Amino acid sequence: MSNLINKLARKELIDMVPYQSARRLFASGDAKQASNKTWLNANEAPGMGEYQVSSENINRYPDFQPTSLLNAYSNYCGLKRSQILATRGADEGIELIIRSFCRAYEDSILICPPTYGMYGISAENHGSGIVKVPLNNNQLDLEGLQQQVGKVKVVFLCSPGNPTGNLLVKEDIIAAIELFKDDAIVVVDEAYIEFSPAETCTNLFTQYDNVIVLRTLSKAFALAGLRCGFTLASEEIITLLSKVIAPYPISAPVAEIASKALSAGLDEMAERVQDCNQIKANLSAWLNKQSWCSEVFVSNANFILFRCTNLDEKTRIFDLLVSYNILIRDQSKQIQLDNCLRITIGSEQEIAQLKEVLT
Ligand SMILES: Cc1ncc(COP(=O)(O)O)c(C=O)c1O
Repeated sequence: MSNLINKLARKELIDMVPYQSARRLFASGDAKQASNKTWLNANEAPGMGEYQVSSENINRYPDFQPTSLLNAYSNYCGLKRSQILATRGADEGIELIIRSFCRAYEDSILICPPTYGMYGISAENHGSGIVKVPLNNNQLDLEGLQQQVGKVKVVFLCSPGNPTGNLLVKEDIIAAIELFKDDAIVVVDEAYIEFSPAETCTNLFTQYDNVIVLRTLSKAFALAGLRCGFTLASEEIITLLSKVIAPYPISAPVAEIASKALSAGLDEMAERVQDCNQIKANLSAWLNKQSWCSEVFVSNANFILFRCTNLDEKTRIFDLLVSYNILIRDQSKQIQLDNCLRITIGSEQEIAQLKEVLT
């Protein structure tokens, strides 16, 4: 870094390691290079959609929150439009929440590792502190959470969890919301909720003022490349977040494609979820029988986390798959996840190919 930039930049950013997203670790390159690889490392859905977009009004700015999109999501999730904020992926929702509730270098967020990495990265970028209360057997440690009441502004829970895959017990989520009801916002990240829709926490808004739910079209809706997510909360919270978000967060083509996926595309999404759950059950049974696998985590999402018997086996399996251009995700650096790898549930052929390489 030049002397000038070194002098001007925020000091904490100079050594900061950015989020190691699946595409930073393995870039997809051009279409030809991308099609040479089997992408099972970012919890995307297999199979591409076909959408037509109109360029009729592309010379105009889009609405701040495109009406057709908000109507479609409102119909889908059963909440009022005033309780919904469409964002550039759920990742933007995470960032907005931290920027809206945490004062830089004064306030902190709380996370329950092993969990999704962007909560910590967004907090670090903003200058928020990070308090960690690790999961206990992949569930909330309510006693640990209680000790942090009054010390944090935002609590991030992830259910179904990434990378663990399981749902948090709903009573525990409610207990956490109760614990923090006068002191902190509790965010329930439901990026994978379509794989167990009955477990959503959106019904808690009527009872609690401190709840936010995050959603995305990147997973069950097979639209990761679109970058469209939703923050669901009380009208009061949505009004606050709307002061922080960029003026035109959703581009017109994104709104158009997302609106179609949320109306005509709903049956297709339900079918995709059903297929995924079937392939996942088969893969889970297969993994359980492999000598190099010591644990298969319960999954309510579109991926499976498993533990290898030791570090050598973990490295061998990961590298073997890479040598066949099959990319999965190494989660072994996360707390409690020694020797763990995560496989996204791809198409039937992709998973068959993975099994063949590993057999
Ligand atoms: C738990 C969780 N939350 C949020 C996101 C981000 O989703 P989006 O693609 O909508 O930004 C992901 C993406 O992998 C995730 O796993």
